[in-house]
Amino acid sequence: MKHFIVCVVIIGMCFLHSISISSFSSKEELKVLQASSAEIKQFVFENTHFLKDESACQSIKFFWSFSNFRSRLEKAIAASQRCFFSESFFVEPYGYKMRLTICPDGPPEINFHLSVYAQLLRGRNDDQLVWPFQQKVVFTLVDQQDNTSKTKNIRKALTPTRKGMPRCQQLKFARPSKSHDVNNDVFGIHRFISHLDLKKRRYVRDDTILIQFEVYPPLCD
Ligand SMILES: *[C@@H]1O[C@H](CO)[C@@H](O)[C@H](O)[C@H]1NC(C)=O
Repeated sequence: MKHFIVCVVIIGMCFLHSISISSFSSKEELKVLQASSAEIKQFVFENTHFLKDESACQSIKFFWSFSNFRSRLEKAIAASQRCFFSESFFVEPYGYKMRLTICPDGPPEINFHLSVYAQLLRGRNDDQLVWPFQQKVVFTLVDQQDNTSKTKNIRKALTPTRKGMPRCQQLKFARPSKSHDVNNDVFGIHRFISHLDLKKRRYVRDDTILIQFEVYPPLCD
């Protein structure tokens, strides 16, 4: 009898515990829905210092030379084509398949800024890879000066997995769906650079901007 009562109490406690967890997570989800497009900003930070152990945390770099910038910006402002995709690429031969997106005039609710995003695509290596994707990525707008000692690049980093990331954010880093041809949502930086700042320095040169995208090895924050 004594044992029976102990079991009932333990099961009851577990039940209460699971209730409190599930009500907590639905509350969190509600908050996320309300946060809408501003949500990603909390995972973005300006990278102002360099990693001490350069050899262990060496990034893999991709460059996207985005030409015809003026006409693409006009198209984006006129909303005839808001965003442009890069070719897809593998981060490593056995790595993630990704592509980049530039929205010269941001997504609909964010104007006067250029936005940059990355996106995980379905790839041949997906079975062997770690999901969700959790490696730090860095977007850089290159200041295309002749004198490289005068360059002032715009460099912004994003680390996908931080404790407490809302579920809808995690989905962007989940394994792309096998069953449908639906792509993962993009992740990136809405207000990467304002149109005003874009006119400064030599961010646009010969009607072209140069975006560098870096992927760091796991655990390089
Ligand atoms: C490049 O800029 C640096 C810093 O302003 C200057 O000291 C250097 O002389 C410049 N080099 C050339 C080749 O103009």
